[in-house]
Amino acid sequence: MSKVTEAHIIEALSSVQEPDLKKDLVTLCMIEDIGIDSGNNVSFTVVLTTPACPMKEQIKQSCIDAIRKDVPEAAGIEVTMTSKVTSSCGHHQCNHERPLKEVKNIIAVASGKGGVGKSTFAVNLAVSLAKTGATVGLVDADLYGPSIPTMFGMQNKQPEMSGKNIVPLEKYGVKLMSIGFLVEPDTALIWRGPMASTAIKQFITEVEWKELDYLIFDFPPGTGDIQITIAQTIPLTGAVIVTTPQDVALADVSKAVSMFRKVNVPILGLVENMSYYELPDGTKDYIFGHHGGEIFAKTHGFDFLGAIPIDRGVREGGDNGTPYVLGNPDSAPAQAIDRASKEIARRVSITNAASVEELS
Ligand SMILES: Nc1ncnc2c1ncn2[C@@H]1O[C@H](COP(=O)(O)OP(=O)(O)OP(=O)(O)O)[C@@H](O)[C@H]1O
Ligand SMILES: [Mg+2]
Repeated sequence: MSKVTEAHIIEALSSVQEPDLKKDLVTLCMIEDIGIDSGNNVSFTVVLTTPACPMKEQIKQSCIDAIRKDVPEAAGIEVTMTSKVTSSCGHHQCNHERPLKEVKNIIAVASGKGGVGKSTFAVNLAVSLAKTGATVGLVDADLYGPSIPTMFGMQNKQPEMSGKNIVPLEKYGVKLMSIGFLVEPDTALIWRGPMASTAIKQFITEVEWKELDYLIFDFPPGTGDIQITIAQTIPLTGAVIVTTPQDVALADVSKAVSMFRKVNVPILGLVENMSYYELPDGTKDYIFGHHGGEIFAKTHGFDFLGAIPIDRGVREGGDNGTPYVLGNPDSAPAQAIDRASKEIARRVSITNAASVEELS
């Protein structure tokens, strides 16, 4: 029996492409800890760019297939899949003095229109990413109608201070910050313009997030001054647009897309919420129109991240503080949200890889 060497394994794995980054795993430095024992049993670790990688199983299988084909002497093959989330710090925005250095990626969840499910999606996205093992934070940037305290069942909770910084609250593995934790419900209503923008900035820079893979930013509705200021001052990795399939919602979405494009924030994709209602006989009622979001995304050249149905449980989960992806993980809406979350993590990795390449 000829001895398998590390060079054989590296050679074989050089033929495995990372499907999104379009380079092989060895060039991308994604292979670590190669081990070969005296019986030619092979082990190694694949370091993905996100624990939420939707291609995890496919990549693992491709590695096994490549070794079986190119190194037939290999006996057992043990592949450990792990991850190290890449950072958007290669982005042009980061050439300036970047706030939040320990936060690898900041993702805006936005829509021009109110009430389309931004907060519902942002909350479930954060929990869904945390479920995969990522470190996640969530900011409620809606000064006038904060919803995160309710959606996490954290009303009347107050964060502690550490020196002059605020320590975020934490639930379901997600670090949380909302104006609702800091002031009485009606107080923020008197804030206007620059004061509101300053409050949002403090919220970000004076919160002790520590290391985060993803910070989700639940945007307030609209495309006014506050939204533009946030989009300009926070080093966003990208924006996820949430809409219903309805024409009026889509018209507002155009405004949100233009706003992000104007300040050079990449659009990671579009999520269509309240896409249909499933009747007891299994047929789907497209209450707000059919496929509006998907068509809009295609027309504007960005990814469609999925369709989330209308479901009483989604609303109830928001009201009673149990995000639906935790409360009912096997349901159609939860699965749609989990899929969209993985797609978002994937788009973030691709965006980061592209911007690193641009700089080099
Ligand atoms: N897929 C869904 N099925 C059923 N109810 C939903 C769904 N998505 C959101 N909702 C409900 O619709 C309402 C509006 O949702 P949400 O507060 O998330 O929207 P929003 O876009 O953040 O609103 P705002 O613009 O006020 O911030 C909430 O009562 C929420 O529970
Ligand atoms: Mg909201």
